[in-house]
Amino acid sequence: MEKIIEVKNLTKIYPQPNSEIIIFENLSFEIKKGDFVSITGPSGSGKTTLLNIISTLDSKYSGEVFFMGTDISKMKEEEKNRMRLKEIGFVFQFDSLLEDFNILENIEMPALILNDKKSVKKGMELLKKWGMEDKAYKKPQELSGGEKQRTAILRAIRNNPSVIIADEPTGNLDHETAIKVMNDFKKLNQEGSTVVMVTHNMELARIFSDKIYSLSKTELKKIL
Ligand SMILES: Nc1ncnc2c1ncn2[C@@H]1O[C@H](COP(=O)(O)OP(=O)(O)O)[C@@H](O)[C@H]1O
Ligand SMILES: [Mg+2]
Repeated sequence: MEKIIEVKNLTKIYPQPNSEIIIFENLSFEIKKGDFVSITGPSGSGKTTLLNIISTLDSKYSGEVFFMGTDISKMKEEEKNRMRLKEIGFVFQFDSLLEDFNILENIEMPALILNDKKSVKKGMELLKKWGMEDKAYKKPQELSGGEKQRTAILRAIRNNPSVIIADEPTGNLDHETAIKVMNDFKKLNQEGSTVVMVTHNMELARIFSDKIYSLSKTELKKIL
């Protein structure tokens, strides 16, 4: 199957005043198109750092990172920004919605930035499909935690990305809401999206994802 992300001999070091922290040392792995991958690991093991590297947000590393076959270290900043907006959908743990904009505008934001023009049709279609059209003109603070996270998910998929990258997307939700949000990711995965998710919730990871990996300094090891 086609590889979406390929990491070869990744080494990541955070320099410190008198020393350095080695986060990864010769880490190699790949993620295939259509996968639903959950990544676990203790706090501080580098999960967020890894997501930032594979999503082209952090370029201070050694080794090679390929995104859809292209070595991202060889891309110009401008190219990377465009690719990120088009090909990657981000979902975070805490509210990342813009409070001064309504739900429809929040969902349209990545498209607005990418195309530099307003087109709310797709956003409205997404809201209808996901049963949230009655929330289109509400502000994020008027929504429940689950609805806000679903909004963030719709924003993430607005530009039809190749991969959805989620950093503890259910970390801030109660169990019932977390299940709903995981179901949303599962639905997207079944419709063809590749999902790479960091999570602490092994129970939900087991139910919803295809593969579970544990992250350490030197390997991303498949545990289930
Ligand atoms: N910008 C930074 N500068 C220095 N150290 C950092 C920076 N970002 C993260 N770290 C350190 O790197 C380690 C991994 O962090 P992180 O990727 O956030 O872990 P996780 O998401 O698994 O909890 C932690 O020890 C953290 O303190
Ligand atoms: Mg983290």
